[in-house]
Amino acid sequence: MFEIHVFDTYDQVSEKAFEVMKEVVVSNPRAVLGLATGSSPVGLYKKLVDDFKVNRTSYKTITTYNLDEYVGIPQEHEQSYYTFMFQNFFAHVDIPHENIHMPVGISNDLKAYADAYELELQKHPQDIQLLGIGSNGHIGFNEPGTSFDMGTHIVDLKEQTRIDNARFFASLDDVPTQAMTMGIQDILRAKKILLIATGEKKAKAIAGMIEGPISEAVPCSILQKHPHVVVVLDKEAAKEL
Ligand code: F6R
Repeated sequence: MFEIHVFDTYDQVSEKAFEVMKEVVVSNPRAVLGLATGSSPVGLYKKLVDDFKVNRTSYKTITTYNLDEYVGIPQEHEQSYYTFMFQNFFAHVDIPHENIHMPVGISNDLKAYADAYELELQKHPQDIQLLGIGSNGHIGFNEPGTSFDMGTHIVDLKEQTRIDNARFFASLDDVPTQAMTMGIQDILRAKKILLIATGEKKAKAIAGMIEGPISEAVPCSILQKHPHVVVVLDKEAAKEL
């Protein structure tokens, strides 16, 4: 079931997402948060950090699991999702390092790491899962064609996703070709999902998610089966609804 909110500005989108996320953290100080990277949640993280500074909303007993990480780049790489999370959020709040869980991009056994991450997720289902959405309808890095039955796994990134993300790298060749991602099953396990999308480039994916047939060709369409997805959009992203 979708609860859809449409706003004029990115700041209003971020404010709504902040309210939803803060409510979970305040109502359950032991909450498990599923987190995302990318441009969409940057404003939300900024508001959470500002709120921590002003109101001291504590993350001491919060646990986090991130959606994904590029394969082949180390944690300290400036474009790793690890770096993103510390720069935008973790370094600015009081969350203990041991409560933070993230897929990795380098390991002597990536498959074993993904399997262990999957088991942890099954033991600690997310109270809320934050999502962005790819222009091709991916959630996490579950690209079109990914089975809806997958847990955490290694995925080959689609060309469109690499092109979309090339803006963060020196050139398209520098964009990793694979990622480790939570699977659709992991995302659906969350009690609540908070999805942020802005800009015209997301409009088709948003329409497919809400109104299209449920199909592995459009991974976000599976969210129609989830009991509570809060969708926070700007007018451009909502324009094909
Ligand atoms: C990020 C993630 C991706 C992004 C999506 C949108 O952790 O899992 O699915 O949410 O690619 O990215 P932006 O927000 O940069 O448009």
